[in-house]
Amino acid sequence: MTGAGQGPSAASPDALPFDPIGDALGRIRTEFLDDHRGEVADYIPQLGEADPAAFGLALVGVAGSVYRVGEADVPFTIQSISKPFVYALALADAGIDDVLGRVGVEPSGEAFNAISLEPGTGRPSNPMINAGAILTTSLVRGTGPDERFERIRDLLSRCAGRVLEVDDAVFRSEHETGDRNRALAYLMRHAGSLTADVEAAVDTYFRQCSVLVTAVDLATMAATLANGGVNPRTGEEVLGQSAAEQVLTVMATCGMYDYSGEWLFRVGLPAKSGVSGGVVAVSPSQFGIGLYSPRLDGRGNSVRGVAASEAISERFTLHLMHQVGRTAPTFERVAPDVGLVVAADDQGTSVSVGDAPRNADVAVLAVQGYLEFASAEQALLALRTRTDDTDSPEALILDLGHVTRCHPVAAALLDAMIEQIESRGVTVVTVDRRERRLLASSAEFTTRSEALARCRGGWRER
Ligand code: DON
Repeated sequence: MTGAGQGPSAASPDALPFDPIGDALGRIRTEFLDDHRGEVADYIPQLGEADPAAFGLALVGVAGSVYRVGEADVPFTIQSISKPFVYALALADAGIDDVLGRVGVEPSGEAFNAISLEPGTGRPSNPMINAGAILTTSLVRGTGPDERFERIRDLLSRCAGRVLEVDDAVFRSEHETGDRNRALAYLMRHAGSLTADVEAAVDTYFRQCSVLVTAVDLATMAATLANGGVNPRTGEEVLGQSAAEQVLTVMATCGMYDYSGEWLFRVGLPAKSGVSGGVVAVSPSQFGIGLYSPRLDGRGNSVRGVAASEAISERFTLHLMHQVGRTAPTFERVAPDVGLVVAADDQGTSVSVGDAPRNADVAVLAVQGYLEFASAEQALLALRTRTDDTDSPEALILDLGHVTRCHPVAAALLDAMIEQIESRGVTVVTVDRRERRLLASSAEFTTRSEALARCRGGWRER
């Protein structure tokens, strides 16, 4: 479906014929379609021309699927939603210490255009309010405003997965009516926090606010943040993983201006809104959402965008503080294949153990899923229990073939445990059919039988 009031997601090239996610989005859209509260922003005259009835929702998953309903392909200017992405660029260009020294990360609890500057230094509270955003924009590397803006446009485009254009009429309108932003820039320049030329700084800021996007673009940009900085539709690594995390943190605490606290309480997702009616929200590691509905509440946030985000978060149980039932790694203990298990006699000649007098000669432990701190801790406990007692095996095979991802913390913990186990005379080898070398401390084989053969060889040598 493509127009207002139509059914869900038929316009999506990626949509499935039966699409429960698109259907759920469609129901949420229908639920709030008749909410006509709020006003379209007109303090920048050009923004006042938006269609107040437009209501588009899009969701992009970290696997790259797109779900869209309503006016999800209608272009509008990105406005303040550019701020988190430009913050990421400033972090990459100037480094975290420099950026933090110039712009704080404290929620201001004030309106987007407030004079929220640290007394004495003129340091703005955070990069999501106008003052902080103007300063952040000035920290982006470039020989002049043109190059600085082109680098910003390039980053926004790569996050959206297509080349984004500027709405010149909105840009001119911003430029003509942007005296409050100029005033903020002059105050910061007077205090010494803004060192760039005021006109150049606000010019780039006005241009970044005038970049045209759709709800699908916003959802793709949000999904790039959800996906650790890699655009899931193009596969391009656009931002570093830590920059993505830092940006999401500031979005969570400051993204919705003086509604940020209640937003985090109710919706529980990092988000950012803009005065043209766009909202992005991010479910880390899962997906990004882009919404468009131009009527704003008194704080400058889209009325239907906020309401629909709250419903999406509730229906899909997305609140960041929600305790997720953890899928613990599965441990499979495999009795040794007696045909393969051999022990050495006194002369060092292999003899078949035959019916395996001790079933613990070789233990096979298989782990699956995403190994991070909590699941690695479970694996450590299993390894320790299996090798601590008097019935410890002489060799242990750790099968990592079904591990989907291994966090460096998990790898370090497992490596340390394997070293300890080996210091007690137990041979430890790993199996990974994909040969990823997830752990550094042990010999790795592609199949369990090769690993068993290696354990057998080890016994021969004794
Ligand atoms: O600074 C301004 O006035 C706008 N161009 C951008 C502000 C904005 O989107 C605030 N968001 N709610």
